[in-house]
Amino acid sequence: MSTHSNQTGEPRLASVYRESDSAPKVRASPRVALPEHLNPVTGKFLRLLWDELGSELGVGDDLEPYGRDETEDLLYLPDVVVRPQRADQVAHLLRLCHEHRIAVTPRGAGTGLSGGALPVTGGVLLDMSRMNRILKIDTQNMQVTVEPGCITEVIQQEVAAHGLYYPPDPSSRGSCSIGGNLAHGAGGPHAVKYGTTRDYVLNLQVALASGELIWTGASVLKYATGYNLTQLMVGSEGTLGVVTQAVLRLIPQPTQTLLMLLPFPTLEAACLAVAEIFHLGITPSALEFMERDAMELVSAYLKRDIHIPDEVQAHLLVELDGPQVDVLQNDAATLFDALQHRTVGEILLAQTATEQQQLWQLRRQVAHAVRAASVYKEEDTVVPRAALPQLISRVKELGNSYGFKSVCYGHAGDGNVHVNILKGDMGEEQWNGVIQQGIRELFREVAALGGTLSGEHGVGWVQQTYLPEVMGETQRQLMRGIKEVFDPRGILNPCKIFTVNA
Ligand code: MLT
Ligand code: ZN
Repeated sequence: MSTHSNQTGEPRLASVYRESDSAPKVRASPRVALPEHLNPVTGKFLRLLWDELGSELGVGDDLEPYGRDETEDLLYLPDVVVRPQRADQVAHLLRLCHEHRIAVTPRGAGTGLSGGALPVTGGVLLDMSRMNRILKIDTQNMQVTVEPGCITEVIQQEVAAHGLYYPPDPSSRGSCSIGGNLAHGAGGPHAVKYGTTRDYVLNLQVALASGELIWTGASVLKYATGYNLTQLMVGSEGTLGVVTQAVLRLIPQPTQTLLMLLPFPTLEAACLAVAEIFHLGITPSALEFMERDAMELVSAYLKRDIHIPDEVQAHLLVELDGPQVDVLQNDAATLFDALQHRTVGEILLAQTATEQQQLWQLRRQVAHAVRAASVYKEEDTVVPRAALPQLISRVKELGNSYGFKSVCYGHAGDGNVHVNILKGDMGEEQWNGVIQQGIRELFREVAALGGTLSGEHGVGWVQQTYLPEVMGETQRQLMRGIKEVFDPRGILNPCKIFTVNA
């Protein structure tokens, strides 16, 4: 079968790789034990999918890219990948899976860092990447309606052409999708001034496990009409429903920006400066932290010959934006004066748009640089901003006691530090034993500082074991209850958020 259209010319669910004229066979794959409430994918179920959805289904070794995201080096193969092009196809698929108690793992662009898109029990992998249209840019109301597979940066570019701005910008904005951003409540460097994905969602079309399609609210700027289902969906990591359209709020494009790189003699000095900046009455549009090792790794990764003086142990990347450049320059001068006693060496002020881009590239590529250096576990710690100095020193102390090397960087203005723990040549036993204990202790410390487990990467698969360190049983029970209402048969992204030891 070579066509992707059915008799009415409508697009079909298409195979991932191979078109075939017979229903595919089931293939064994590495995965966790199927929970009792779910059924395995059988040849009969694949035949049913085939008959009802006209799918050409992908099977075989080619499923492998769908068994990974960007979390560590984990791989869990699905039984089958389904790639819808329309909301009604998603709803139809969910209805079938609900009826037959088959696991469905929704997937955006696969850039997640907590394993949220890993099909850990096998089942159906629902690849949303073909639903990638920008449906409407409403300049009058400053709103954009998009499908979940849209790449975040593409949305930003399209609305920028109308003088509008969609601020949430994870470092992976060039490759991540808005559906994934919604699933995790993604942030990014500009969240410190503009907020995260959550703050820009007005309304969502969602396919429920029952096969119904609903809108969660209304595309309005204020909402006081019962429970806020829209916000409930954001950050639910594909466990409550599958977003098939999103209406997002936009704001006017900022016109002027200043970007500077401030060097510090210690990690603590950089972290102490963070809260001080806000006390000056300045709200930077980005306030990012990079410890020396992060800067060195990314310079090497990008093959940029950047000399970091010996006395510099950390940097803050500070961006100011607004309509008037002279106001920004005044703010920058105030900031330099106030932080003089903390910085060491030369402050770098980007002089051109190209220099700004080069500085941003350093920050945005750190995750890739770390990944290229070693397998790593990424902890997305977040604490109240003024607790950053304590957090960072505890991270390093725990590294000494548990024997791990960490590379820290992230959104200091939000109190959100990505603690990257490098595996290097560590054996599996240590990696999955004592290091996990160290991470558990880290989260206990984070909780004691008033923080929590994730600021923007989600709980997903790999962080759920630590959830009890930051959240009580009563709260987790409430979450399970919500899940039960939306997904009574537990088919949606099973084993995510709060199902293992939690
Ligand atoms: C970042 O801040 O760079 C993103 O959260 C991605 C990452 O940390 O890997
Ligand atoms: Zn981040």
